[in-house]
Amino acid sequence: MDSLQGKVVIVTGASEGIGAALVTSLRKRGAKLALVARTEAKLRALATADDLVIPFDLTLDAGRADVVERTAAHFGRVDALINNAGRGSYYSPTESPVADSRNLFELNFFAPMHLAQAATPWLKKTRGTIVNVSSIAGQISLPWLPIYSASKFALTSLSSTQRMELARHGVNVLTVFPGYVDTGFQAHANGSVPPATVVKGKQFAVTAAECAEAIVRGMEQRRRMVVTPLIGWPLVVLARLFPALTESRLGSVKLGETNLETM
Ligand SMILES: NC(=O)c1ccc[n+]([C@@H]2O[C@H](COP(=O)([O-])OP(=O)(O)OC[C@H]3O[C@@H](n4cnc5c(N)ncnc54)[C@H](OP(=O)(O)O)[C@@H]3O)[C@@H](O)[C@H]2O)c1
Repeated sequence: MDSLQGKVVIVTGASEGIGAALVTSLRKRGAKLALVARTEAKLRALATADDLVIPFDLTLDAGRADVVERTAAHFGRVDALINNAGRGSYYSPTESPVADSRNLFELNFFAPMHLAQAATPWLKKTRGTIVNVSSIAGQISLPWLPIYSASKFALTSLSSTQRMELARHGVNVLTVFPGYVDTGFQAHANGSVPPATVVKGKQFAVTAAECAEAIVRGMEQRRRMVVTPLIGWPLVVLARLFPALTESRLGSVKLGETNLETM
């Protein structure tokens, strides 16, 4: 069991949702926190005097490395990077605007990749942890979130190769696969509205606090992956075993439909 007491943790997307819940869970364990998101007022409302607040738009290439360097300069070390910030995009695969898709990849893939590159020298010194918050959509291609799915598949793959590279340096890489978590995620996504089937899935949702606790326990146990809620597991296994059936079932769901009973 790896104690988080006194550990320096960077949390992206810390202003609300899963990120804000991570702040609470990590603070309870005595971690020192750098909070990153665009909305400074929300970060300040959550922060204590001991936290470092870094208002920053992670879609911007320039400045990502500064997030890590400012944290290291302030606390003297970096023990964990949690790549949590992300957003969705409810467009069909053939209609997703290219500019929106690029912007989504900047946030969901290039920012985690870039921050991990900047943090790695520090994490090697502390034998620390990278947490990449992917999604069940990073294991199963969801046609109502096609570019989001693609970005999370890319992050899942990057996470695996980071683990292969960094294990020999004592750095753990934890990939997180949340299913439905009750946050503002759907409201913040661009494009259409999620299909009714997806909205119905809310009955299986976990709270942001439950998701954050699962992630932090995964960090303490230096696990390689966390799936939350656990109902995600059978879905992943079914999709792997029966890919054609999965495609045909998911393909019957129409983006923006309001009363779908299939699946
Ligand atoms: N909720 C779910 O059902 C679910 C399921 C699977 C995976 N996930 C993943 O979990 C992670 C957290 O999602 P959530 O549900 O907590 O979503 P959320 O409630 O919408 O929170 C998103 C966070 O990311 C920050 N963010 C958004 N754009 C940003 C940008 N350009 N630069 C910096 N920060 C930015 C937001 O803060 P600002 O707006 O202040 O910048 C906010 O703190 C995401 O990676 C998401 O893909 C969520």
